[in-house]
Amino acid sequence: MSFLYKVARSALFKADPEKAHSMTLQAMRSGAYPKKASAIDDALIQEVLGFRFPNPVGLSAGFDKNAEVIEPVLKMGFGFTEVGTVTPKPQDGNPKPRIFRDIENEAVINRMGFPNGGVEVFAENFAAFQKKRAQIAGIVGINIGMNKTQTEPALDYAALITRFAKDADYLTINISSPNTPGLRNLQSRGPLLELLDAVKAARAEVTDDTPTPILVKFAPDLSDEQIDELCGSVIDAGIEGVIVGNTTLDRPDFLSDGFRDEAGGLSGKPLTEKSTRVIGKFYKHLKGVMPIIGVGGISNADDAYAKIKAGASLVQLYTGLIYQGPNIASDINHGLLKLLRDDGYEHISQAVGADHG
Ligand SMILES: Cc1cc2nc3c(=O)[nH]c(=O)nc-3n(C[C@H](O)[C@H](O)[C@H](O)COP(=O)(O)O)c2cc1C
Repeated sequence: MSFLYKVARSALFKADPEKAHSMTLQAMRSGAYPKKASAIDDALIQEVLGFRFPNPVGLSAGFDKNAEVIEPVLKMGFGFTEVGTVTPKPQDGNPKPRIFRDIENEAVINRMGFPNGGVEVFAENFAAFQKKRAQIAGIVGINIGMNKTQTEPALDYAALITRFAKDADYLTINISSPNTPGLRNLQSRGPLLELLDAVKAARAEVTDDTPTPILVKFAPDLSDEQIDELCGSVIDAGIEGVIVGNTTLDRPDFLSDGFRDEAGGLSGKPLTEKSTRVIGKFYKHLKGVMPIIGVGGISNADDAYAKIKAGASLVQLYTGLIYQGPNIASDINHGLLKLLRDDGYEHISQAVGADHG
């Protein structure tokens, strides 16, 4: 962690977590962030989902819900960013406070409930980025979700696909946030296939021969039987990839008192090993059929490399940025290069799934 971020972090950690987040966004919008190259070595550049990713480290959904800081995030050295979750209508989310830190364990619990400005605000911000897009390296995914009041999820997802399929490099169907009642129920074969049929039909209406890749983001809290069933479902649906995964409902004993009792999804270090295990299980089913984006408790190059060897082609992080600071993507990429060389690999793609022989 840089000296500068140590100082900034102590100020940020004195503020309420959500206030600290809006201060961070404000600083980024005004240009106050360290600029790092996203392409540092050919060994990290990969073709995934039909796009050239300058490096495998992305910022995961939830940090930039309204697509306000795409350019700063990519200029901080991330190879890609996933904006959203956006819902069709604006919504306030759950009552505050709704983000909690366990500093000792480098963990966060959140029960945000998809607060966001809705499609109009999102589209306006996204359009501002599009104007400068040609000059900025990096891939941009849009993560979509349903409004809390929606009783027919497919309607919201289809509407968002219609609206954003042409803007996004890829689209993520988020069915794994624990803070929208009923959302995680979509993680079973029947409801998932029905939903994916609807979103593919919406996509077919608006895109031509090169349809925007669709990914589904799953929770890490799935049994082996569920993983088996869901992998079969995404293969049958013919979508392009999966993201594994979202926050967990687990509450390990070592979490700080008080923090442990907060409702919501747990992220950060306590999730690292569990999510890597779940990625390995998905990889055994999906190997060669579609790529996995691995997420959960990545704070350094070792964590990222473990997920890549478990089967992730790309990785994402959010909580690690809070605890390690804005150099995290660049630090991980430099560390990954060293780890690859130590293992005798010439290119990152050789390490993907290496755990499985
Ligand atoms: C405050 C907060 C808000 C989040 N909001 C979203 C969201 O809107 N959509 C989503 O798919 N994931 C959301 N996530 C989950 C992250 O994208 C990520 O999947 C999860 O936190 C695990 O990664 P991490 O341990 O690196 O944070 C959120 C996470 C946090 C901490």
